[in-house]
Amino acid sequence: MSDQNTGTSNDVLDYYSRNWEKIANCYEVDAQGIPADPAWYRRRLYGEFLERAKPASILDIGCGGGWTVLDALEKGVDARGIEPVLELKEFGNRLLKDNGHDPDRIQQDDLASCTDFAANSMDAISLLSVLPHVPRENWDAVHTDMARSLKPGGRLVAAYRNELFDLFTFNSITLEFFDQRLWGLDDDATPRGAKTLEALKGLMSNPDKPGQYFTAADDKSFGKLDRMKNNPLTLPEYHAKFGLEPERISFYHFHCVPPLMEDKIDNYREISHKMELSLSNDWRGHFMAAMFLVESVKK
Ligand SMILES: C[S@@+](CC[C@H](N)C(=O)[O-])C[C@H]1O[C@@H](n2cnc3c(N)ncnc32)[C@H](O)[C@@H]1O
Repeated sequence: MSDQNTGTSNDVLDYYSRNWEKIANCYEVDAQGIPADPAWYRRRLYGEFLERAKPASILDIGCGGGWTVLDALEKGVDARGIEPVLELKEFGNRLLKDNGHDPDRIQQDDLASCTDFAANSMDAISLLSVLPHVPRENWDAVHTDMARSLKPGGRLVAAYRNELFDLFTFNSITLEFFDQRLWGLDDDATPRGAKTLEALKGLMSNPDKPGQYFTAADDKSFGKLDRMKNNPLTLPEYHAKFGLEPERISFYHFHCVPPLMEDKIDNYREISHKMELSLSNDWRGHFMAAMFLVESVKK
């Protein structure tokens, strides 16, 4: 295991260690066939990526309970995974073994080990909901290492949290978006200030909801973990800095109405599920989906 550090906090790793059973079993569907967790949709999009790109091999970094490593192996890809949390790594080892694969394809390690990857050596790398846990100051280094490790023509597939979704939620998170992202840029010409924010609050019905540490997870400490968000409109420009060219952006974790209105819509889950299955590449995803998956190719 690498002794280097990408800065993922111990709070994050402890959270995953405490909740490993939930994370390892996050792909279940309910009696109506609707997924219990948005990870199901990410896995679906990832499956489509594997079918389309057909990489000869892939390294799945932060592979959790190993299901996506298994998916790739079952499609004939020479897949390996790394996962820092022991309980999840061991679940993944058992999952591979039970399905007739070498369990040691999943090793305990951290994204930090990417500094040791040989240049131009990888066909594909996946980071499925891992980067939001990496502090912003380490992002350039991580993306530099990913791009360096990929072969020319190799692919990075990475999931990000969508900050534009905050505009759709009409709540305290929307205020945060105005305050920090629209007005909080390094620009003296922005109208940022307590007075402006108060005036904006006056336009909204839910300026204090859902609260700073809101989370849908059972373990409420998840809401206190730092989780980075990104703008899907500027992400292509960001990847291009590292010689990575986005081929596709797919949206998931759709909300058919702002989250605070869920209880006003009888079949909220069914409608959102239908959006997931039909709108992953539709422009509305920029606003109505909380997450997105980017597939980029190294030039
Ligand atoms: C939301 S889970 C996703 C798991 C899996 N990729 C999936 O799609 O089901 C996030 C995972 O990232 C892992 N993780 C967090 N920080 C990491 C790091 N610095 N290096 C590698 N994995 C990390 C966590 O241990 C956890 O398994």
